[in-house]
Amino acid sequence: MAGEIIDGKAFAAQLREKVGVLAADFAAKAGRKAGLAVVLVGDDPASQVYVGSKGKATLAANMASFEHRLPESTSEGELLALVARLNADSTVDGILVQLPLPAHIDEQAVIAAIDPNKDVDGFHVTNAGRLAVGQSGFVPCTPLGCMMLLTDRLGDLSGLNAVVIGRSNIVGKPMAQLLLDANATVTIAHSRTKDLAEVVRRADILVAAVGRAEMVRADWIKPGATVIDVGINRLAPEPGANKGRLVGDVAFGEAREVAGAITPVPGGVGPMTIAVLLRNTLVAAHRNAG
Ligand code: GUN
Repeated sequence: MAGEIIDGKAFAAQLREKVGVLAADFAAKAGRKAGLAVVLVGDDPASQVYVGSKGKATLAANMASFEHRLPESTSEGELLALVARLNADSTVDGILVQLPLPAHIDEQAVIAAIDPNKDVDGFHVTNAGRLAVGQSGFVPCTPLGCMMLLTDRLGDLSGLNAVVIGRSNIVGKPMAQLLLDANATVTIAHSRTKDLAEVVRRADILVAAVGRAEMVRADWIKPGATVIDVGINRLAPEPGANKGRLVGDVAFGEAREVAGAITPVPGGVGPMTIAVLLRNTLVAAHRNAG
């Protein structure tokens, strides 16, 4: 029997709805809306689309959206000056600087300049450190969204074998921390892992975040496993089409035949990221207001 499809799109819509209700309540009590500032430097088309979607979702959730679209030629100093202004602005609860930044700007320097209590992306070393030692802080949106999908489906994760493929600061490492905090037994695999298929076959929970189209095959998956696919890869276009299909890091069609449950791409993890960003912004607003 084919595994269940985990509907991240529907889950994210419900979360956005809940956050919207709570954000309206915040606005009524605080006398102002929770505010999210999103900064985009340059004109990367994918980033333009992401930033536009974040702005719309923020407004729809009864929050204020402050968009700053700066030209590619913006200097690091100018960007740091904007971050400093946003840090000091009491109507701004969350700050997100869209990555990647142009090559002439030091990403780490910009992330380090964001007030950790407004760092709704959870990328600042202070928040990475808080997560590592179990203090409350902001957790990166994508892994936190994956965690919500996992606990919704599985409940208690204690003792389960979890394998995370990928070790990025944005997904792999925080994902592993969250799973560990939930008492899973965690393995972090990556491009240099020996016998990757063998490692993955032990997973009750698999989180794939490597960025390689359909790398994980059906025969890597333990029967009944819960599979969370973070990858978003565009295949080469079919003849006659101008855009290739979007696929994950897992070969969905065949993997679904073995897995107990699996997220699709698109419509799985992707929509969770913005929903969690809104949730983090509302949390920031409560902390900053209180
Ligand atoms: N670029 C792609 N995803 C993200 C994200 O979640 N946050 C930021 N800041 N930039 C991104």
